[in-house]
Amino acid sequence: ASTLGAAATQSGRYFGTAIAGGRLGDSAYSTIAAREFNMVTAENEMKPDATEPQQNVFNFTAGDQIYNWANSRGIKVRGHTLAWHSQQPGWMQNMSGSTLRNAMINHINGVMGHYRGKLAAWDVVNEAFNEDGSRRQSNLQATGNDWIEVAFRTARAADPSVKLCYNDYNIENWSYGKTQGVYRMIQDFRSRGVPIDCVGLQTHFTGGSSLPGNFQTTLSSFAALGVDVALTEVDVTNASTTQYAGLTQACVNVPRCIGITVWGVRDSDSWRSNESPLLFDGGGNKKAAYTSVLNVLNGA
Ligand code: G3I
Repeated sequence: ASTLGAAATQSGRYFGTAIAGGRLGDSAYSTIAAREFNMVTAENEMKPDATEPQQNVFNFTAGDQIYNWANSRGIKVRGHTLAWHSQQPGWMQNMSGSTLRNAMINHINGVMGHYRGKLAAWDVVNEAFNEDGSRRQSNLQATGNDWIEVAFRTARAADPSVKLCYNDYNIENWSYGKTQGVYRMIQDFRSRGVPIDCVGLQTHFTGGSSLPGNFQTTLSSFAALGVDVALTEVDVTNASTTQYAGLTQACVNVPRCIGITVWGVRDSDSWRSNESPLLFDGGGNKKAAYTSVLNVLNGA
C-alpha cells in the first residue's frame, strides 16, 4: 500500500495524526492529512479548557470542526482528553474536594454525551503519574485516589460504545518506575472490574537511535492484562529512522497494538518543531522516516 493508513489497514490497524483545527484551511496540510491517515486526534480542541470554558457552558465548535472534517472523509476520531491536570479551564483550576469531583463528572458527561456513539476511543484520563510510578499530585488527585476509577465508570455510563483509554508519556520502557506504576493500576482495574479498554503510550521519544528498553515487552505486557494498546502521540527527535521503524515493528508484532498516531503532520506543525520529529518536512515532502514506517507496515 502507498499510504500510511492503507498500509496499516492491511493488518487491521490504523495510522493517525493529531490535527490542529486552525490548520485545516491550509490545503497543503489538509491534503496530506486526508491522504495518509485514517484516524485523527484533536491536538487541543477536545480538551477541558476548549470544551467547557465556563462551568457547565460547553463549546464544541472547534472539536466539531475536526470531527466533521474527519467523519466526512471516512476518517475515525480519537477523543483527547477528559480529565487532566493541565489545560483545565480557569474556573476548574482552583477547585477542590467534592466541588471539583462533581465538576469532573459533569464535564465527562457533557463532553461524552455530545460525542456519544461517534468516536473510536477517548483518552479518559491523561498523565496522572509521576516518573517514579506514584500518583501525580494535582487538584484532581487531591479529591481522592479513586478519582481515576470514578472518571472511567462515569465515562462507561456516558457512552458505552466508545473505547476508554488511559494515556501517558514515558511509559514505554518496561523497566521504568512510571511504566510499572501505570501497569499496576491497569492490573488493579482489570481485577476489580473498573471499566478500561486501552492504554495509550504517547511515545514522545527524545534522542538516541534505539528504542526505550523492552518497548515491545511493555506493549505485550499491557495487552496481556486484557486491554488494547496504541501509540498515541508519536514524535521522535530528528525523526530517527531506526526508532520510527522500531516502534512501528513493535506495534505490528503485538496483536493488541491497534494503531499508531503521530503528533502532527509536518515538522512545522509540531509542538517540537525545532527537533524535526515528524514524517513530513515543512514543505510537505515525505522524509526518510516516512519510508521506514511505510516499509514496516507493508511487511517489507
Ligand atoms: O490558542 C492559543 C492562542 O490563542 C494564543 O495566541 C497562543 C499564544 O501562546 O496560544 C494558543 O494556545 C496554545 C495551544 O497549544 C494551541 O496552539 C497554548 O499556548 C499551548 O500551551 C498549547 O500547547 C499544546 C500542549 O499540548 C498544551 O499542554 C500543544 O499544542 C499540544 O501539542 C500539546 O499536546 C500534548 C498532549 O495533549 C498530551 N501529551 C503531551 C502533548 C505535548 O505537550
